[in-house]
Amino acid sequence: MESAVGAIVLAAGLGTRMRSARAKVLHELGGEPMIARVMRSLASLAPTPLVVVVGHQGDEVAAAARRFAPGRDVAAARQPAQRGTGDAARCGLEAFAPAFDGDVLILYGDMPMIRPATLAAFIAGHRSVRAEVSFISAILDDPGAYGRVIRDSAGVVTAIVEARDASPAELAIGEINTGVYLARAAVLRSALAQLSPDNAQDEYYLTDLVAIAHRRRLAVQAWCAPDAAEFAGINSLKELAAMEAEIRAAVNRRLMEAGVTIVDPATAYIGEQVEIGRDSMVGPNVQILGRSKVGEGVRIEGTAYLRDVEIGDGCHLKIGVRAEECRIGPHCEIGPFANLRTGTELEGHNRVGNFVETKKARLGRGTKASHLSYLGDTVIGRETNIGCGVITVNYDGYDKHLTQIGSRCMIGCDTQLVAPVKVGDDVYVASGTTILREVPDGALCVSHHPQKVKPGWTADWRRRHGSRAEADGSD
Ligand code: UD1
Ligand code: CA
Repeated sequence: MESAVGAIVLAAGLGTRMRSARAKVLHELGGEPMIARVMRSLASLAPTPLVVVVGHQGDEVAAAARRFAPGRDVAAARQPAQRGTGDAARCGLEAFAPAFDGDVLILYGDMPMIRPATLAAFIAGHRSVRAEVSFISAILDDPGAYGRVIRDSAGVVTAIVEARDASPAELAIGEINTGVYLARAAVLRSALAQLSPDNAQDEYYLTDLVAIAHRRRLAVQAWCAPDAAEFAGINSLKELAAMEAEIRAAVNRRLMEAGVTIVDPATAYIGEQVEIGRDSMVGPNVQILGRSKVGEGVRIEGTAYLRDVEIGDGCHLKIGVRAEECRIGPHCEIGPFANLRTGTELEGHNRVGNFVETKKARLGRGTKASHLSYLGDTVIGRETNIGCGVITVNYDGYDKHLTQIGSRCMIGCDTQLVAPVKVGDDVYVASGTTILREVPDGALCVSHHPQKVKPGWTADWRRRHGSRAEADGSD
């Protein structure tokens, strides 16, 4: 039987070079904290236990780690002071049951490009050569500040030397340590207990694990990564922006290859989890984020912010749409300048026009609200027309109340519906009406005061107010 795999994600560091008070792994990439991507990759391998070592803003980091590993238990281990990667791994290992005797995978929370398939291949590689300790190495043209992999004349890995502790000859080595390790729990426990901070940084180096294992004549393997780019860490906001651009470009390429027109890829900000159907068009300056799903033949004119939105086939989003946590059925026409807030559900063939705000609003098929409305906490039937300026008065200062409107209604312009209230099917509401009580099916509802007309009144008024009114009357 294959041994169990547990995992430790090191994420306690602040990331000094980010020059930020925010923990590095909380900085956002593609609209999510950086650690999200590592957690998702790991979660798909189902390591048990799954431990995150936290320090700076530990609660927030732990919460973010949990949010992006759905369905998995994530234990948080606190590292009280950042005394090095070896110390961090030791803290993580303490969260394992003492009886755990499987393999432990260690990696960093700031390795956002890592792919699950690569991790799986690494684990398989470790097992196939029966290594006791494995780590992922990579060959770089410019090995910079990475730890160097030291091999003896027979090519056997003997140590990892940090750049700051390396001799010029060692610095010339192009094979580097990416910072991903796999070792049997017992080996790791005893090796970590042996670390000393006797180095240029006065830190406990996890990398010393390799030399310790070699001295004990355990089999150590450097598994060379096929694609070094996957292990690129983020150390500065400049690198963060560069990676963001790279991820974005890759998403855009994938979508364009799948038949989506992106008018200006430089201003299309589309999250990696987003799906868009063929023959859809994304105009300039559009953000589509979260778990959004856009159907086929959808036209997004431009300047839109869409997060966690489902958009059916054939919809047309005119310029200036903001929509969050909504379902928009097929063949709807939205905007220009519409704000669809959480819980908006359009069944299909709807129109939500300019300066219309919806929230927890369910509109049946074919229902339209074309101009200047607030529709909140409301359920509206099919083929109803909501006139210009209609408002659901949903809030009494304490609670929100429901407005129900039936099918095939004509709700006149400037109507206010004071909730809780219900309007039946086939109702006509005269413009300017304030609806306070239930209106039955098929009725006409009017709340006008009778119109008064006084002929000649204006001239009389002006005469009585004399010259001042005449002088001011021009502006
Ligand atoms: C480390 C490796 C180096 C490797 C490089 C790859 C060591 C000693 N060196 O160097 O060989 O080439 O990664 O990127 O391991 N962390 C903690 N607690 C700590 C210190 C670090 O949780 O006390 C976490 C950080 O949050 C970070 C990760 O460990 O996510 C790596 O730490 P970092 O200081 O960036 O290591 P490097 O100096 O880059
Ligand atoms: Ca680093």
